[in-house]
Amino acid sequence: MKVLLTGGAGYVGSHVLRKLCDQKISTLVFDDLSSGHKEFIGDNPFMQGDISKIESVDGAFAQFRPDMVFHIAALATLSECSKRPDDCHRVNVTGTRNILDAMRKHGVKHMVFASSCAVYANARTMTALRETDEIGPISPYAESKRDCEVLLREYDSKYGIRSVAFRIFNVSGAHPEANIGERHNPETHLLPLVIDTMLGRRPAIYIYGNDYPTPDGTAVRDYVHVWDIAEAFFRAGKLLGEGSPSHILNLGSGVATSVYDLINAVKIQAKMDVPSSLQSRREGDSAWLFADAALLEKTLRWKPEWSNMQAIIQTALKWHQNQ
Ligand SMILES: NC(=O)c1ccc[n+]([C@@H]2O[C@H](COP(=O)([O-])OP(=O)(O)OC[C@H]3O[C@@H](n4cnc5c(N)ncnc54)[C@H](O)[C@@H]3O)[C@@H](O)[C@H]2O)c1
Repeated sequence: MKVLLTGGAGYVGSHVLRKLCDQKISTLVFDDLSSGHKEFIGDNPFMQGDISKIESVDGAFAQFRPDMVFHIAALATLSECSKRPDDCHRVNVTGTRNILDAMRKHGVKHMVFASSCAVYANARTMTALRETDEIGPISPYAESKRDCEVLLREYDSKYGIRSVAFRIFNVSGAHPEANIGERHNPETHLLPLVIDTMLGRRPAIYIYGNDYPTPDGTAVRDYVHVWDIAEAFFRAGKLLGEGSPSHILNLGSGVATSVYDLINAVKIQAKMDVPSSLQSRREGDSAWLFADAALLEKTLRWKPEWSNMQAIIQTALKWHQNQ
C-alpha cells in the first residue's frame, strides 16, 4: 500500500507520517513547507509542491502512483485564514479540489481528510457535539473546511471516491520519543503558549474572557493527543481499504477542559507558576467545543490512549524544553 500524505511536514502530518512508517506503509510527503519543517520528515520520500497548483499535484500522483491519500495540508489557523481569506480558500478549498481531481484522473479511490470542529455552529447548551449537530461556520477557516466536506460528498456520489473526514478538536502533546512536536509560527494554540510563558519565553498568558456561560467562566475545549490522532488516521485508512463507505467523524477525546483547568494542570505538573493576564473575549470564539466521540470509537474501534492531561502536558513539556 502507498500513501500520498499532504502536509506531512506539519504538526499533525509529521505524527501521521511517523505512524505510517511504524506500520511499514510506503509514504510520499507532499508539502510546500510554508508552515511545515523539513526536519520533521526525516529521510522519508518528499516532494516539495503546492496543492493549489494542479500541475504540481498531478506530478506527484504520476510519479508516486499512490493507492490512497491522507490530506492534511492546509492554511491551518483561524487567525491566518481571517487575515488572508483568499489564500485560505485557494489552499484549503481549491487545493482539496485539485487533489480530488488528481485522484479521479489517476484512479485513486480513498482519502482520509483533516477537517475541523470549527465547522459546528455555536452550541446553545454545554453538551458534547455530535456529527449530526448544526453546521454554521463562523470564520473563513471554518467555511473552507465546510466547503471541503461538501466536495468530499460530491466526489463520493459522482465518482465513487470514499473518504473519512475527521472533525478534529484541539490537537495537543507531542510524540513520546521522536523529536517532533507543535511548532506553529505565529503560535496561537493554548498549551504551547502556556508552556512558553512558564518557561519565561513570554511575559504572560492571555485569558480571553472569564464571563462565558461555562462552569468557571473560561472557554471549554477538547484536547486530543496528536499520537491518538495519528492512530485514528491509520485506522481510517485501513477501514477505507476494507471497502467501507464514507464517514464524517469527530476526532476528540470527549473530555471538556476549560482554559483555567489547562493552566492549573500545567502549574501542578511542572510545579511552576504561569503568569496570566485577563483580556476581553475574542470575536468568533465559541464558549465550548467538545466532542461526542461515540461514533468515532464505534466506527474505528479507537480509544484515546494518550489524551489525558498528564500525558499531554508531559510530552508537550519535553518537546518544548528541547526547543
Ligand atoms: N492543530 C490543530 O489543533 C487542528 C485542529 C483541527 C484541525 N486541524 C487541521 O489539521 C491539519 C494540520 O494542522 P497542523 O496544526 O498540523 O498545521 P501545520 O501548519 O503544522 O501543518 C500544515 C502543513 O501543510 C503544509 N501546507 C500548507 N499549505 C500548503 C500548500 N499550499 N501546499 C502543500 N502543503 C501546504 C504546511 O507546510 C504544513 O506542513 C490542517 O488541515 C488543520 O486545519 C488542526
